[in-house]
Order: sequence, then C-alpha cells, then structure tokens
Amino acid sequence: MATDLLRGKALSAQCSVCHGKNGISRDPESPNLAGQSAYYLEKALVDYQKGLREDRRMSIIAKGLSIEDIKHLAAWYAAFELTVTEPTL
Ligand code: HEC
Repeated sequence: MATDLLRGKALSAQCSVCHGKNGISRDPESPNLAGQSAYYLEKALVDYQKGLREDRRMSIIAKGLSIEDIKHLAAWYAAFELTVTEPTL
C-alpha cells in the first residue's frame, strides 16, 4: 500500500488537540509525534489497538483507526524534519 501524506494530514486533525498542530505537543502528558520514525508510530498505534500497550485515551483512539489510516498517519508525522540544539553548558 502506498502511503498518502494528504490523507495522513487530514487524519491528523483529530490528533492535534493533544499532540499539537504539527505533532509538537504543548500538553506535557502527550508526546511529540513529529519526526518520529514511521515504524515506531505504526507499532505504537497497533500495540494500543491490540491492548499490548494501554492508555485510557490512546486505546480508544487507536481502535477507531484502520491499518491504512495508521500507515498514512505514521507517514505524515515521520515526514516532519526537526532540528535540535544541544543545551549550552
Ligand atoms: C485526548 C488526547 C489525545 C488524542 C486526541 C490523541 N492522543 Fe496520542 N497520545 C496521547 C497521550 C496522553 C499519549 C501517551 C500515552 C501513554 O503513556 O502511552 C499518546 C501517545 C501516542 C503515541 C505513542 C507515542 C510514543 O512516543 O510512544 C502515538 C503514536 C500517538 N499517541 C498517536 C496519536 C494519533 C495518530 C492520534 C490521532 C489519530 C492521537 N494520538 C490522538 C493523547 C492523545
């Protein structure tokens, strides 16, 4: 299946309330998703679906996603490029 970034972007609207508009979260309980590997994002979402990983919010959200949705979302968030700056000591 080819992943579809436009579809991933559209699906990500429902994630932004917690994970931030561009996958950079302002809620300390919700992790950043931008720049994470597609492999990790997909695995996390499938694990919530299967109950291998549990969270009261994510377990419900993941159950509403198809495997295609998960792949589009993973591709979308993985496509962000981040730059990091090491703290000055
Ligand atoms: C109601 C708030 C909320 C919404 C909406 C939400 N999430 Fe989350 N998400 C969380 C929280 C809180 C966690 C951390 C849960 C944990 O500790 O396992 C999380 C964890 C995750 C993780 C695991 C990240 C990691 O670093 O291990 C992924 C992937 C994820 N969310 C994707 C999504 C996607 C994709 C959507 C939209 C379809 C979404 N979330 C919608 C709150 C939310």
